Amino acid sequence: MSAKSAEKETDPRLTVSLAGVKLRTPLLTASGTCGYGPEYADVLDYSRLGGFTTKSVTLHERPGNEPQRIVEVQAGILNAIGLANVGLQRFIAEKIPYIREMPTRVFVNVAGYKQEDYVAVCEALDEFDCLAGLELNVSCPNVSDGLMFGTSPELLRRLIEAVRKVVRRRLLIVKLSPNVTDIAAMARAAIDGGAQVLSLINTYVGMAINAKTRRPLLANVIGGLSGPAIKPLALFNVHRVYREVAQRNNIPLIGMGGAQSVTDVIEFMLAGASAVGIGTALFVDPALPVKIADALGEYLHSNNIASASELVGKLALPQ
Ligand SMILES: Cc1cc2nc3c(=O)[nH]c(=O)nc-3n(C[C@H](O)[C@H](O)[C@H](O)COP(=O)(O)O)c2cc1C
Repeated sequence: MSAKSAEKETDPRLTVSLAGVKLRTPLLTASGTCGYGPEYADVLDYSRLGGFTTKSVTLHERPGNEPQRIVEVQAGILNAIGLANVGLQRFIAEKIPYIREMPTRVFVNVAGYKQEDYVAVCEALDEFDCLAGLELNVSCPNVSDGLMFGTSPELLRRLIEAVRKVVRRRLLIVKLSPNVTDIAAMARAAIDGGAQVLSLINTYVGMAINAKTRRPLLANVIGGLSGPAIKPLALFNVHRVYREVAQRNNIPLIGMGGAQSVTDVIEFMLAGASAVGIGTALFVDPALPVKIADALGEYLHSNNIASASELVGKLALPQ
């Protein structure tokens, strides 16, 4: 780490806290867009990142969906990766040694198809001191009834309650799906179950069609939409969850969905996010979270704002 980066690292204005876990800056990577860590090491200076979120880890290794798994659409991308990942045992054996040396907070995103799968993965990962927290991806169908964990408040509350019992040392983050009628009800259910932090949003379900071949562009037919196309929707969800649920329960939010500039990050923070995840924009510029953090530091300095956390929820609403 250079002296310059060490100096920037300690800029106290950028430090934010997620339920007691201090982040050097409010900028995080979003799950699934930067692998497990080694993939971006040459292009993203982890020592200047608020935190790194891994791609989803499931109990068993998964090859994921057939290609085509990603297509570009107007103002975003559609992905149907199908949770391709190395599975818990290989994650511990092959990825944790690298993560142990990463000079940033690391959050492992956990997914599953049964409550017991989430519990088994979280129980095992809770043992690792090198992890700052576990983020539950609940946008997965439950094998027993086909319902997505993140679309039924009762299913979600029970899932989080069960996981809460085995996560004793790590921060428990629940990542909300926007593909619901009432995201505030899901946020309440997650908090009732024991979530300490909420992150939002995961991708919106969408599809793309080739009019000439009359075929869907994704092998899986449907996929998750991300990128600038969803930013206004993401802002609304963060605003709503902050105002209706998170603020009064003192639960910090991680906002994400289409953020690609310092202005976008400030907007998410004004809407109520304590930290902001950058996902799809990493495919354009992998160093973006560090560049945005620098720009945020300059913004705070030139506007005489002592701390980034002063922006959180400061949206000026009409009377
Ligand atoms: C290619 C790709 C893979 C993703 N994989 C995961 C994943 O494994 N787990 C998860 O919780 N979210 C996953 N996401 C969702 C992102 O973490 C994020 O919530 C979403 O893309 C919105 O942020 P963005 O517009 O900045 O990308 C993925 C997104 C993309 C684009």
